[in-house]
Amino acid sequence: MRKIYVFDTTLRDGEQVPGAKLNFEEKMYIAKQLEKLRVDYMEAGFPSSSQGDFEAVREISRQIKDSSVVALGRAVKSDIDRMYESLKEAANPMIHIVLGSSNVHITKKFNKNPEDILQMGVDAVTYAKRYTSQVEYSLEDASRSDLEYMWRTIEAVVKAGATCVNIPDTVGFAVPELFGGLIHQIYDRLQNVAPHVLLSVHCHNDSGLATANTLAAVRNGANKVECTINGIGERAGNTSLEEVVMGIKLHPEYYDGYTDINHSAIYETSRIVSRTMGLDVQVNKALVGENAFAHSSGIHQDGLLKSKEVYEIFEPSDIGAPPMDIVLTARSGKHAFEYISKKLGYEIAPEVLNEIHANFLKIADEKKEVYDNDVIDLLDGDERVQKN
Ligand code: KIV
Ligand code: ZN
Repeated sequence: MRKIYVFDTTLRDGEQVPGAKLNFEEKMYIAKQLEKLRVDYMEAGFPSSSQGDFEAVREISRQIKDSSVVALGRAVKSDIDRMYESLKEAANPMIHIVLGSSNVHITKKFNKNPEDILQMGVDAVTYAKRYTSQVEYSLEDASRSDLEYMWRTIEAVVKAGATCVNIPDTVGFAVPELFGGLIHQIYDRLQNVAPHVLLSVHCHNDSGLATANTLAAVRNGANKVECTINGIGERAGNTSLEEVVMGIKLHPEYYDGYTDINHSAIYETSRIVSRTMGLDVQVNKALVGENAFAHSSGIHQDGLLKSKEVYEIFEPSDIGAPPMDIVLTARSGKHAFEYISKKLGYEIAPEVLNEIHANFLKIADEKKEVYDNDVIDLLDGDERVQKN
């Protein structure tokens, strides 16, 4: 089975979220946690953007040894020099060069012609290779670019020494079938000329499809995924690391692959990133949201109490999350009510269960959610109930 490399960009694309800027210590704290999560690559910042970013990348390079540290910059010598300066103490550094490949980028952003941009990319990779053996080249806005032009660019930058080509869906324009098809074509061609080069994807979530697009790309040959914790990032965010990693873990044969992520650190990492960046995780967020393992429907609660497998695709502990939670509501049946009562230390005799459950439902109808204290008040006030 193939190894799928996980590239985390929480500290770069993730940090671009308004209000999420981290100070030096906070960046280090998250970097250490990402190392514990065992990401293969950690994009630590954009060193030419500010002195603060430069220093953070330099310190992360000094302290992080188990993940490859990456710096991002434009295809210009001054950015590449700055990337190298910040990365030079890293154990296994990678320079990441980004340059637009779509018509709109080439003409509107750079006001150049496609051949000049292609040459700029080649020159940048050639220059970066003086510094590091690993160089990633990103064809920004790839999902809106012409395939033949992209392929000529890929061939040229690989010849110049790029060890990873990244196909970003920069504006979240792609849909899984089309994006998978695009990756398939690039993968096939790359196998003929440079099978050792990593084929990477970087998706944004503007249409809510970042995870689906990334997984479609993996299915079609990509062997490196760029993502962030909790899916944070520019605008609607990036691909969520936890979703992609668990998707691959649940379907290894389908994706013909595995990652080296330490799954049991996923939940803790999610909490740390949320707290440190001051970005709440939506309650229904897949895997790491507060409700991800909370069950409130009576039918589900009854099924779960018989066997967790009935309504859970994996154990919360697999990602280091707290155990599944039965939330008592007006839809909770006797089984769930009795289960919570027992957990709180009460024994309800079978012949009074119906009646006490009916009293519970009256409370649940008044309140949206019934807390432990409500159950305790109800049961303490009923002389037929025994407290252990
Ligand atoms: O979204 C994007 O295209 C990027 C590149 C730097 C990969 O963030
Ligand atoms: Zn991005």
